[in-house]
Amino acid sequence: MKVKKVSEYLKDKDYYQIIAPILTSSEFLKRKRYIHHENCSVYEHCISVSYLAYKICKKLKLNYADAAIGGLLHDFYEEPWQDHLYRKDPFFKQHGFVHAANALDNAMKYFPEYINERISDIILRHMFPLNIHPPKYAESWIVTFVDKKVSLDVLKPSKNMFKYLGLTKKNK
Ligand SMILES: [Fe+2]
Ligand SMILES: [Fe+2]
Repeated sequence: MKVKKVSEYLKDKDYYQIIAPILTSSEFLKRKRYIHHENCSVYEHCISVSYLAYKICKKLKLNYADAAIGGLLHDFYEEPWQDHLYRKDPFFKQHGFVHAANALDNAMKYFPEYINERISDIILRHMFPLNIHPPKYAESWIVTFVDKKVSLDVLKPSKNMFKYLGLTKKNK
């Protein structure tokens, strides 16, 4: 599984049709300005996770549309995670622990007509095992793995791992 430029993924018409209403919404487009990690925006990161999970689910005859939407919204949290670094949040309130639930709340706020039980599970459980409740659906497991794979590709070397987890070593 190789991570490519997101413009390549968006050329896939079947995929694009599924995600276009969310992708082109003004609220989702704001994520172009949210930095995920290194040189990658949240917008790009979410498309990569969404598309690769979509392809795997399609191959495995799983619910690829839910994987595409869940993948796209898995990091749809309200504000850039870097903003949290300046707060004195307790350890278990740091971004890595809370952003999945926040992303689901936010997805329900802006795109309620797209959210079903499987998509909720994809979003809410994608930080397993950091969030201790494991995913319930095969599609959720796939998004969880793809998210880590995509993030780790961006985050070599491994010393940046804490950044991926949304944790600071010292919460000063
Ligand atoms: Fe995440
Ligand atoms: Fe992610």
